[in-house]
Amino acid sequence: MRVVVTGGAGFIGSHLVDRLVEAGFDVVVVDNFSSGRREFVNDSAELHVRDIKERDWGVGVRGDVVFHLAANPEVRLSTTEPAVHFEENVVATFNVLEWARQTGVRTVVFASSSTVYGDAQVMPTPEDEPYAPISIYGAAKAAGEVMCGTYARLYGVRCLVLRYANVVGPRLRHGVIYDFIMKLKRDPHVLEVLGDGTQRKSYLYVKDAVDATLAAWEKFEETGSTHLVLNVGNLDSIKVLEIANIVSSVLGLKPEIKLALATRDGRGWLGDVKYMTLSVAKLVDFAGWKPTMSSAEAVRKAAEDLARELWTP
Ligand SMILES: NC(=O)c1ccc[n+]([C@@H]2O[C@H](COP(=O)([O-])OP(=O)(O)OC[C@H]3O[C@@H](n4cnc5c(N)ncnc54)[C@H](O)[C@@H]3O)[C@@H](O)[C@H]2O)c1
Repeated sequence: MRVVVTGGAGFIGSHLVDRLVEAGFDVVVVDNFSSGRREFVNDSAELHVRDIKERDWGVGVRGDVVFHLAANPEVRLSTTEPAVHFEENVVATFNVLEWARQTGVRTVVFASSSTVYGDAQVMPTPEDEPYAPISIYGAAKAAGEVMCGTYARLYGVRCLVLRYANVVGPRLRHGVIYDFIMKLKRDPHVLEVLGDGTQRKSYLYVKDAVDATLAAWEKFEETGSTHLVLNVGNLDSIKVLEIANIVSSVLGLKPEIKLALATRDGRGWLGDVKYMTLSVAKLVDFAGWKPTMSSAEAVRKAAEDLARELWTP
């Protein structure tokens, strides 16, 4: 079976590619290296350097299944540069679905996000909570999900939508842990925390996220259903100030914490969801998967991984 991974040079994508190669699949990576790295791409994968924002990106690329992970994952940027997110996350997803329809791809696995719920009213948030994104990134993911569902119903392109919580681990190059490490590299005495630090969200270690992805996909192929939406997250959550403490202690530092509030209610930026924990009951029931690390354990291990990659004292 040929498996295409868009964004296969990125953080989650490159770990997924490694596991698919290990499992014996023919793996095709499509990436434009906008944030991904060539050195993250598994040597056994067939690599196509393409920009999926282009309508003809898929010429000569063939696969039975596509994991569509290529995206711009910077939620903060989506507020100031909405057009970038429309292109990278809406147009690009449409182009991948069109390529899938035209070339007869059987299954699309779409990497969506917890941000489609916005400030969810129910916590842990189940999949049937309505869309209420508060960032353009979240809106773009919701648009991608809706298109996936329509391609499934209209054209029979089977679609598995996975709404990830925060995923962390080696090769991560965005998000709060990466941000803290880079700030402490510049100044080990002061750590700027965006928001009031009480934002509390769920974090999943990348190995758990890839296990969940593969377990859900395997079951999805077995069941023959055409469209399914699953949350992929942890059972608990962690506050931003706790993350600041973990990262500082992993680096052996005790910086002064400076809070930078973007809104009166203590958000770090416009579009920052303050509280997020996803219900994973549906995923556990469907695929028999369970996380092996808590949010705090995932954050600590990721901080250690990234310190090894990025920290030169
Ligand atoms: N990391 C998380 O916490 C998280 C949480 C929820 C959802 N997601 C989603 O999971 C997916 C993977 O996220 P990630 O953290 O690995 O991000 P990442 O930035 O590390 O990886 C994205 C990859 O896509 C590539 N890419 C971007 N635009 C492209 C284009 N136009 N054409 C071809 N390649 C392109 C980049 O070069 C990069 O290799 C994304 O869709 C993201 O929105 C991630």
